[in-house]
Amino acid sequence: MPKDTLSITDNRTGQSYEVPVADGTIKAMDLRQVRVSEDDFGLMTYDPAFMNTAACRSAITYIDGDRGILRYRGYPIEELADRASFLEVAYLLSEGELPTQAQLDKWTSDIRYHTYVHTNIIRFLEGFRYDAHPMGMLLGVVGALSTFYPDAKEMHDPANRYIQRVRLMAKIPTLAAFVFRQTRGLPYQFPRNDLDYIGNYVNMTFSIGGQHKPNPVLQRALEILLILHADHEQNCSTSAVRAVGSSGVDPFSAISAGIAALYGPLHGGANEAVLRMLDEIGDKSSIPAFIEKVKSGEGRLMGFGHRVYKSYDPRAKLIKRVADQVFAETGLNPKLEIAVELERIALSDEYFIKRKLYPNVDFYSGLIYQAMGYPTEYFTVLFALGRMPGWLAQWEEMLQDKEQKIARPRQIYTGEDQREFVEIGKRK
Ligand code: CMC
Repeated sequence: MPKDTLSITDNRTGQSYEVPVADGTIKAMDLRQVRVSEDDFGLMTYDPAFMNTAACRSAITYIDGDRGILRYRGYPIEELADRASFLEVAYLLSEGELPTQAQLDKWTSDIRYHTYVHTNIIRFLEGFRYDAHPMGMLLGVVGALSTFYPDAKEMHDPANRYIQRVRLMAKIPTLAAFVFRQTRGLPYQFPRNDLDYIGNYVNMTFSIGGQHKPNPVLQRALEILLILHADHEQNCSTSAVRAVGSSGVDPFSAISAGIAALYGPLHGGANEAVLRMLDEIGDKSSIPAFIEKVKSGEGRLMGFGHRVYKSYDPRAKLIKRVADQVFAETGLNPKLEIAVELERIALSDEYFIKRKLYPNVDFYSGLIYQAMGYPTEYFTVLFALGRMPGWLAQWEEMLQDKEQKIARPRQIYTGEDQREFVEIGKRK
């Protein structure tokens, strides 16, 4: 009769141990009993970049990277992208179920009530240098919000946490739009609470002289993109939110850490990097030379590859469809031709096939954002707007998880052994 255990023999001592296997994992702490002597600390696992370590239990997002499956709370991403609104998805992620009409009405109205930010935030934004990167500004002002809501520290009260989650959902479009206006030197547009979530954001971003004619196709396209970005289980920025949040800090500070992680070019910053790469390639005829450069280790094909997906990223498939709808409205983006050709060549090249490198969510999203009128350095702000519900749901789940404590990895010390202090005149 097979047992759900793992037998380990320590060849250093000849001793055997049996540790339970549950959910396809062993507990790293069960290895601590494996020791060579009484004063030995015990065996640890070494896993830089968490390549094979589950750091939490989560009921939010399911990914099967080999089969290209992504589900939020059990619902396939394809169905949510086709049939749900962004606020319904945000509710689903954080509450675990799709809202009833009454629940959605309350959620929408709670968020609408909190869309304004303290006008001192504008003074912070005005203090940035003229060429400040939008993500640097966004992480700064989201972190700064914690000083306006000192009650956000009362995290043991679920009702208080709900209000903070609502505040972050409500204020991120306002802040993202303010950042946009700041980069353009345009006067700030305040929230219009007669508009819906997406419509209000787009209006605050693009309105000139108080006027903006909404394009429903582009607004729904943006909404789908936000849904596709809403959560992606334990990625770099979500892990940052969880790790920073585990210290007991308020959610504005924890989310600001998530925005910082997202900023990096290997994570959310990849959508911006893709556009720069397409600019660098410039012309279809330069693609083969560019691919050769990547294969020889000079840079990466941005928007390709993923730690988890080893087949086509399901979000990238949906984004390609959105691209067709958007370009039918806005006219073709000439860089699309280069991207399509780049993808065709890469997908038939042995280097990319062998390493299972496929387009990810960032490969086509930047082209769509550009067609919608967003500048390249702003793309990752849109990713942050989309990811907010995921960060908040994961933060909430982490706080409710009795198994969680302050995140504190171990290390293997590789430095000097104890040595004596050397006076400055005697140092070599
Ligand atoms: N172009 C060329 N080679 C690549 C690429 C790429 N985009 N990605 C991975 N490789 C190669 C890599 O050089 C390595 O080759 P070798 O085995 O010969 O050393 C192999 O594939 C495995 O790469 P890795 O770096 O060990 O894989 P990882 O799981 O640590 O990295 C990744 C995942 C997403 C950071 C990486 O694929 C990458 O840098 N992609 C480009 C940046 C990008 O598009 N990021 C967005 C990710 S999706 C959205 C998000 O997370 O925000």
